[in-house]
Amino acid sequence: MPPEVPWVRRCPSVIRPPPRSRARQAVTAQARAVILAAGQGTRMRSARPKVLHPLAGRPMLLHVLEAAGSATQSTPIVVVGPGQPEVAAAVAGAGEAVVQPEPRGTGDAVRSVPPELRSEGPVVVVYGDLPLLRAGTVRSLLRAHAATGAACVLLSVAPADPTGLGRVVRGGGGRVERIVEERDLPPGPAPTECNAGVYVFTGSRLWPCLERLSADNAQGELYLTDVVAQLAPEVEAVLAADPDEAMGVNDRVQLAAAEAVLRGRLLTDLMLSGVTVEDPATTYVDASVRVGMDSVLRPMTFLLGDTRVGRGCEIGPMALVRDTRMGDHVRIGASVVEGSELGDGVEIGHYDRVRPGSALASGVSLGTHAEVKNSRVGEGSRISHSACVLDSDIGERVNVGAGTVTCNYDGRDKHRTAIGDGAFVGSNSTLVAPLRVGRDAYIAAASVVTGDVPERALAVGRAHQRNVAGWRDRRERRDA
Ligand code: UD1
Ligand code: CA
Repeated sequence: MPPEVPWVRRCPSVIRPPPRSRARQAVTAQARAVILAAGQGTRMRSARPKVLHPLAGRPMLLHVLEAAGSATQSTPIVVVGPGQPEVAAAVAGAGEAVVQPEPRGTGDAVRSVPPELRSEGPVVVVYGDLPLLRAGTVRSLLRAHAATGAACVLLSVAPADPTGLGRVVRGGGGRVERIVEERDLPPGPAPTECNAGVYVFTGSRLWPCLERLSADNAQGELYLTDVVAQLAPEVEAVLAADPDEAMGVNDRVQLAAAEAVLRGRLLTDLMLSGVTVEDPATTYVDASVRVGMDSVLRPMTFLLGDTRVGRGCEIGPMALVRDTRMGDHVRIGASVVEGSELGDGVEIGHYDRVRPGSALASGVSLGTHAEVKNSRVGEGSRISHSACVLDSDIGERVNVGAGTVTCNYDGRDKHRTAIGDGAFVGSNSTLVAPLRVGRDAYIAAASVVTGDVPERALAVGRAHQRNVAGWRDRRERRDA
């Protein structure tokens, strides 16, 4: 887990939250989060809703849901648009979707929360395009809210480039007076302190304010930020020590910037947990991936989706592994492995492809340019170079020679090949499924095998060789 973010006292009303020991549960027990995700996201220029664009392999909205849900210990309410059933589907199970009929602004979005879900206690509001927000930061705001009794505690940020952000305007005593959106700023110097888009409101104070919002502004929207002026002076701002957390994703340039930050965080966590990452600049690990201690990720490696890597594994260089579970001491070269299970000590060489539905038991090894698809391979079996094992059930200690193909498709249906324990399949054999090769059977190299092979039998499925003595001499005499 990343360390708790330290808070900085920069302005009179930037308050220092009480120490963690002030019962985390006590301040978060009744808190509920509202995540805004109904905006059109026009700046993404995408057919896909903005909040569903993935970051580290997961829709950005789910990163926000995780942070808010973990901080409040409750299921967040997610405000979605009526024409975005895919957003509601994406949050199913992790959030409770409510619909904002029209995207009339962030204030209107919060107003879409129906009365039965409106708590009088602490209400956390987070914008759905803040995927770098940490749960610890939300917890700090909750603690500050409990400690100060403020009607609103908001996260503020002082980024190097504040373009596009609402500005926190403070009055003479340094207290927060209001937030002014960039487009509504008067000419002249603007405050550098910006609104991050994360708030803890006292529910009983928030809900009535939403009825008093006006759309008389540059964007003609009902701004949530205008609630701040209504609640002032009972507003506190907590300045984020890590400005990255407030990085909003509005376009694809910001999407890439957020991805880079998230990737750096995930790799740092991995390294601190005992994983060697030889070249963090070229290593990509999704948020859901787990890697065991003393594993080594070599350059240009991608670990994606629901992937689990055991201890002492070596992956890459140039490996791509997706949705795959593996045991300990597995080695994967410059290969692609997807949707599969690999036992302890599996060795996958270079330029191999292990396709979904494959299970390679302990000690299985693949040579170069081999392909395995939807197949089970028993302990200690070897699949050599350029072999293609499709829809097969292979026993233990089987040797599949180089260039062997299990022909699974007859042009209409797929069929399986079964090979018993200890069998030896000579190189360049063509095994035409459906087919059963018995235990300890032996297939002569370059055989075309179309019928079952009994246990311990030898199958020779190739044309007999004929040697024509002196043939070259005769041809040379003819051509002379
Ligand atoms: C908003 C803030 C700004 C802040 C910035 C931080 C307002 C008015 N402005 O600006 O002060 O500095 O975030 O990143 O709040 N949404 C809805 N329904 C709507 C409109 C928006 O659900 O009708 C959602 C969007 O999906 C998005 C979030 O609210 O997730 C924020 O909206 P966005 O348009 O991105 O606001 P910003 O212009 O970034
Ligand atoms: Ca935004």
